[in-house]
Amino acid sequence: MPKTQTIIAVDPDDLAFRAAELFKTAARANVDQRGRFVVALSGGSTPRGMHRLLASPPALTDVPWEHTHLFWVDERCVPASDPESNLGTAWRDLLRYLSLPPENIHFVRGDFPPEEAAEEYQTELSRFFQLGEGEFPIFDLIFLGLGKDGHTASLFPGLSALHEESRLVVALKGGIPNVGRTTMTYPVLNRARRIVFLVAGKEKAETVKALLESDRPELPAAKIKPLQGDVIWLLDQEAASLLAKV
Ligand code: 6PG
Repeated sequence: MPKTQTIIAVDPDDLAFRAAELFKTAARANVDQRGRFVVALSGGSTPRGMHRLLASPPALTDVPWEHTHLFWVDERCVPASDPESNLGTAWRDLLRYLSLPPENIHFVRGDFPPEEAAEEYQTELSRFFQLGEGEFPIFDLIFLGLGKDGHTASLFPGLSALHEESRLVVALKGGIPNVGRTTMTYPVLNRARRIVFLVAGKEKAETVKALLESDRPELPAAKIKPLQGDVIWLLDQEAASLLAKV
């Protein structure tokens, strides 16, 4: 079983601060150890506070951005100018403020049809990580969100993507907004050195309790079990409000 840690932040601002600290610490440690830091970001609203803090001093200079590579766990297949685009939102909150070499921003082609976008991103992952046949990428850090229905990334309940064992990225349709999407698969997510779930709000409290205090394999986030890595559940007090043990 992966080492799992639960950290409870006072509120969404404190959650964003602690998430940014985890990002910074991991960036420096991985660049020291491996010469680079490879991280995958999530979409949705919860990570935006962290992204904005990373785009501001002191993170702007504290993070070794020139050695940092950004990927996305999932993307909605809409143009980057669309408010629902994970890339577009990250551009507005974070990327446009960074002195990050453009080649370090490994975004999903959300302007492509989902199948093509997934194929293209799979090729990009294989190229960047120099993967051989049957090999999987190892991310230093992956940020994940959580939906009320227990979804994470764009792995929604009942989808065939939940059973994918060989492809790195698959296409699907679903979620809110209900559009074509790409998502990284469990074989990729579960090889990360560290997974950080960022979860805020009382509407997520029941799902958090189900995942942390009971065995609910039907909830997609329950299958996030890194083979070698660890998991941090970074929750705000509202999301943690139903947990027995805090
Ligand atoms: C996406 C996300 C998705 C998100 C959750 C939580 O692109 O839709 O990656 O998995 O993390 O839906 O979203 P909120 O943070 O907005 O609650």
